[in-house]
Amino acid sequence: MSEPSTALERADAFCTRFGLRLPILLAPMAGACPPSLSIAVAKAGGLGACGALLMGPDAIRDWAAQVRADTNGAFQLNIWIPDDPPTRDADHEARVRAFLGEWGPDVPADAADAPLIDFDAQCDAMLAAGPAIMSSIMGLYPPHVVARMKDQGVAWFAVVTTVAEAREAVEAGADVVIAQGMEAGGHRGAFNPDDAARALVGTFALVPAAVDAVGDQVPVVATGGIADARTIAAALMLGASAVQIGTGLLRTPEAGLNAAWADAIGRAEPEDTLTTRAFSGRLGRTIAGTYARAANASDTPDPAPYPVQRSLTAAMRAEAAKTGDIDRMQAWAGQGARLASDEPAEDLVRRLWAETQELLGG
Ligand SMILES: Cc1cc2nc3c(=O)[nH]c(=O)nc-3n(C[C@H](O)[C@H](O)[C@H](O)COP(=O)(O)O)c2cc1C
Repeated sequence: MSEPSTALERADAFCTRFGLRLPILLAPMAGACPPSLSIAVAKAGGLGACGALLMGPDAIRDWAAQVRADTNGAFQLNIWIPDDPPTRDADHEARVRAFLGEWGPDVPADAADAPLIDFDAQCDAMLAAGPAIMSSIMGLYPPHVVARMKDQGVAWFAVVTTVAEAREAVEAGADVVIAQGMEAGGHRGAFNPDDAARALVGTFALVPAAVDAVGDQVPVVATGGIADARTIAAALMLGASAVQIGTGLLRTPEAGLNAAWADAIGRAEPEDTLTTRAFSGRLGRTIAGTYARAANASDTPDPAPYPVQRSLTAAMRAEAAKTGDIDRMQAWAGQGARLASDEPAEDLVRRLWAETQELLGG
């Protein structure tokens, strides 16, 4: 077992390698990672992050420029690795549309026909923005993108949810693995969508197992359920070199989150979140509202695959966000939600690290 000083030394080595002053990473959160949040985290000495899934090339470039204009701090640009295109099933989609019509505006038959933003164009834009780090979730970058990252000296942080995925990521050239426990808010990063619900490994089990499997080759970052000094210290003691925090930073003013969502995070006990495919078709952890509970029930149609379900639910999600209706809102949140503080993010990140060092005897 690591001694406390070893945990701090490991964190220190990670910070030195990636130009950080403290080993706290903002989690990439598509749709919830404005430049202001990354700027605040970077000013505290941590790593900023952009979840670029929903952003075209111009938006990616502008995000990086805005963060750079306000801080010298480092950041990671993050993208989902696309699955194979889903098989469409018009009859099944009609049943899902009818169900969704009970929860929001009628869903037209062509609602899911719009193409996704082009993945290669997003990768080109991320590489052109010249980040220190690019991260992946839901799979591994294809070899031609990995080769360009290596050429440019961009470090690859790969999100993994099992030990097998950690081994695959390292084999493919990842420089760091981010071990995402099932406590995590938002989408679960399983490489195969069918594994997301099958292999629900928690952070406490995954981090030491990933460290034992690949820790002699790459640093392991822990994420999922980490939001205060106790959980950061625990993750470092389990062998992590740094932590990545999502839900725990969503109530900060710099996150600018929908007020109903931020309030629900502040109130949520661990059992008040659930995992569901009902919003996007990919499994994610959300505040347990009445829509998600109903959609998870056995007598309702199974959600369509990603990204079809995401398109089919777009109108309901937009209406819920506009009216602050937490029961229908896609309100991603992890099981550690109630630990999330509403302090300014820069102060919060500094305080978390100061308290963690005290706990670890530093
Ligand atoms: C609102 C939200 C959006 C997210 N979007 C992404 C994303 O685009 N890419 C990604 O790699 N992870 C995404 N995640 C997962 C986080 O990066 C991270 O794994 C998770 O927040 C960690 O668990 P925690 O919320 O308990 O801190 C998202 C999480 C949330 C809460």
